[in-house]
Amino acid sequence: MADQTNPLDDPSADPFAIAAEAASDIHRLTGVEHHDIAVTLGSGWSKAAELIGETVATIPATEVTGFSKPALEGHVGTLRSIVTPDGKHVLVIGARTHYYERHGVRRVVHSVRTAAAAGAKTMVLTNGAGGIKETWKAGTPVLISDHINLTADSPLEGATFVDLTDLYSRRLRDLARTIDPTLDEGVYCQFTGPHYETPAEVQMAKHLGGHIVGMSTALEAIAARQAGMEVLGFSLITNLAAGIQKTPLSHAEVIEAGREAEPVISGLLARVIGAL
Ligand code: HPA
Repeated sequence: MADQTNPLDDPSADPFAIAAEAASDIHRLTGVEHHDIAVTLGSGWSKAAELIGETVATIPATEVTGFSKPALEGHVGTLRSIVTPDGKHVLVIGARTHYYERHGVRRVVHSVRTAAAAGAKTMVLTNGAGGIKETWKAGTPVLISDHINLTADSPLEGATFVDLTDLYSRRLRDLARTIDPTLDEGVYCQFTGPHYETPAEVQMAKHLGGHIVGMSTALEAIAARQAGMEVLGFSLITNLAAGIQKTPLSHAEVIEAGREAEPVISGLLARVIGAL
């Protein structure tokens, strides 16, 4: 399973130099020199790619330096360069490496660093997640207002101190609400996974101030901030979190909720990206 040749696995390698190499691969393979916006598509969000604009090129992520094979079927392992009707270049990342794959945090945030090296100033992070607020239903998209990183890890190496105030840009959340004024928001708690949380862990997250539980995004957002990007985060609530919903969680249910919500949330995401 492991692709042993990933240069990010060499501890002496510079992850930013590898991201720069990846960005030059993207330039060579897509013909697009500069991307303005990057978007990572999590479960349920992938149809947005078709709606954002005209696809210039689609490339397998495995052709790009440092990218890993996707761990999960249904997680598309491609990078796509799209041009919006008003001429903005969007890099669509359909190849997320999750923390639970245990390849290390450098691989988790490589796509974000690559997007920054490709020129993107805005990073849109999307995911499928569990909801703690009982008023949310499966299929509800919500904005991420902040996060609690429960991985006990960081993409920052050494004594690198980065401010995370307003990490999930208020400006961009307000802009998203001009497209859909009903969008609610919440604090995202990143657990390591791949197991879902216990009901007690969900209660802990709730007491800590969390509203959304998931297995991605927070570490990526930190890397995006380090790279100087403005971050917009969206969660699709695919289920109520363990113990909030009375029935057991299943991956099939999560995928199904994503599939049902996909047409609506993809349209929303495409419109928000168009307005960025
Ligand atoms: N918890 C963590 N990750 C998830 C969930 C959940 O309830 N649903 C979808 N991804």
